[in-house]
Amino acid sequence: MPRVGILISGSGSNMVALLEAMRDGRVAGTPAIVVSNNPDAAGLAKAHALGVATAAIDHRPFKGDRAAFDAEVDRALREAGTDVVACAGFMRIMTDDMIGRWTGRMVNIHPSVLPLFKGLHTHQRALDEGMAVHGCTVHEVTPELDTGTILGQAVVPVRPGDTAGTLAARVLRQEHRLYPRCLDAFLRDPEAARREKIAILADEE
Ligand code: GAR
Repeated sequence: MPRVGILISGSGSNMVALLEAMRDGRVAGTPAIVVSNNPDAAGLAKAHALGVATAAIDHRPFKGDRAAFDAEVDRALREAGTDVVACAGFMRIMTDDMIGRWTGRMVNIHPSVLPLFKGLHTHQRALDEGMAVHGCTVHEVTPELDTGTILGQAVVPVRPGDTAGTLAARVLRQEHRLYPRCLDAFLRDPEAARREKIAILADEE
């Protein structure tokens, strides 16, 4: 089974969804390591509680030297025998060199229906644009931010009275459904996963 390294920065709810899916056999992979750039990330304790190796590599002492920080992350992933990297709320931009080393073996989840709303504050921007729908995307990681091949998307309605918070929560529930399915497909057959994208049209509530 391919070994999955997960990169996080915060609460790690997507990471938990992936780890639980691997444990339950819904994702055809096994956890290698969870790496956080934030030593205080709540996700680190959650990974530990699920019996998964963790590493905290604080980006701050690197003082903007992204290449040196990335090299440490890369080393931790390789030492853990990682085959595929899943970014799950990892809020650091990686160097082209780092991404190049994992080409075809690194995926990410982004909280918008790409190519709309790349970057940050996606939920507020969707509200500001008056969108009727919003959602999330699992895609391969390429040097250009939030641009790699789309593996799957989930779409939710925007409701009257939504705030960025209520909308984010609705999207996050779908992230937890979408990411395990996309990662499983990608681990089994990346070419097929790129071709046969997963679509979730969620009309809950
Ligand atoms: C998720 O909504 C994820 O899509 C987003 O951060 C959140 C992390 O939550 N990722 C990005 O914005 C990446 N640019 P989690 O730590 O609970 O999984």
